[in-house]
Amino acid sequence: MSTLAPHPAPGAVRVGDWDFGDFPYGLEPLALPPAGQARAGAGHRPVAPAPCEPRRICRELRALTGTGAAAAPLGVPPAHSYDQLFWFRWITGHQVTFALWRLMGRVLEELPRPDAVPGPAAMARLECYTLGYCAMLLYSGSCPRDLYQSLIRPAMFLQHRGFSGTWAPDFAQVRGLMRGRPLPWLPDGRAAGVRAAVEVQQAIHDSVAARLVPNGRSLLQQSVTESPVRPSERTAVLYDNFFMTLRGPVPDADVAAQLLRRLRAVGLDLAVNGLYPLGRDDEPEEEGSGLVADCERRLGPVLATAAAHAADLARPTASAA
Ligand code: HEM
Repeated sequence: MSTLAPHPAPGAVRVGDWDFGDFPYGLEPLALPPAGQARAGAGHRPVAPAPCEPRRICRELRALTGTGAAAAPLGVPPAHSYDQLFWFRWITGHQVTFALWRLMGRVLEELPRPDAVPGPAAMARLECYTLGYCAMLLYSGSCPRDLYQSLIRPAMFLQHRGFSGTWAPDFAQVRGLMRGRPLPWLPDGRAAGVRAAVEVQQAIHDSVAARLVPNGRSLLQQSVTESPVRPSERTAVLYDNFFMTLRGPVPDADVAAQLLRRLRAVGLDLAVNGLYPLGRDDEPEEEGSGLVADCERRLGPVLATAAAHAADLARPTASAA
């Protein structure tokens, strides 16, 4: 399971120890600005950002993901238990996703008009963050079906029997883009890369859902006949609370720093444990599975590129500068 090697190769990048949560595969709360129906609490005091050195993290991630100099042996232990590992992946993978959605929302907000075709730099960010979301769908959903059914799904069911992705407050910022509508510039030839990434995202979401819940029915769909629950301010709190997300006046520089810290932890986890440490449940060949396999192969470069874009925005936090 471990990639520990006895001696570092010459020129190898020395990647620091695990520094996220209170122990390897531990969790941290995420602080985000209000979004969708999620409001900031009255009198909320922003959480002090955890240490973040953007450039160092990018260098380490390039080494960890094989897109830069090799990484020296890692001092990160395998997870204490698979429950711990996959719980970390479910919560942290979602937190990374929320931060990516926020940064995508920022790119869209910065367009001079909603129908303006984004310039090349904005387009590159949208494509890269969408692919980052694809990577997180795979990462969050990398557990075996049994573990999803015995640990993760029951926890969401206990939070609310109709728990649903439609409640994700930050998704409001990107729903038009992710559903392939109604952004007027999306059919433009210059948006081909973004359109392809959105298509990959739909294929991966469907593939992960089919693998983990073969009958394909979400908790919301199962509960809808007995207690239909539409997204509201209350469901936003239930959702945020499950994924340890706080709302307050958080600047995007701090969102980017929190994203980088999580990407580093994800990079360490993947380098030590691989994407499917307990194997991948078999699934029949389906349309789009080529897109999924391709994303699995490109996971490392996608994470390193997303980190590089986020690092342009992140400000080093005081204790790390
Ligand atoms: C891996 C992490 C996952 C993420 C980040 C995620 C995210 C989302 C989001 C954002 C939506 C809302 C789409 C919209 O409003 O247009 C959604 C809807 C949905 N998701 Fe997922 N999803 C994940 C895993 C799953 C799994 C494992 C299933 C298996 C059942 C699933 C089934 C569904 C279904 C059926 C919907 C439609 C709405 C509903 O019935 O709740 N998703 N998901």
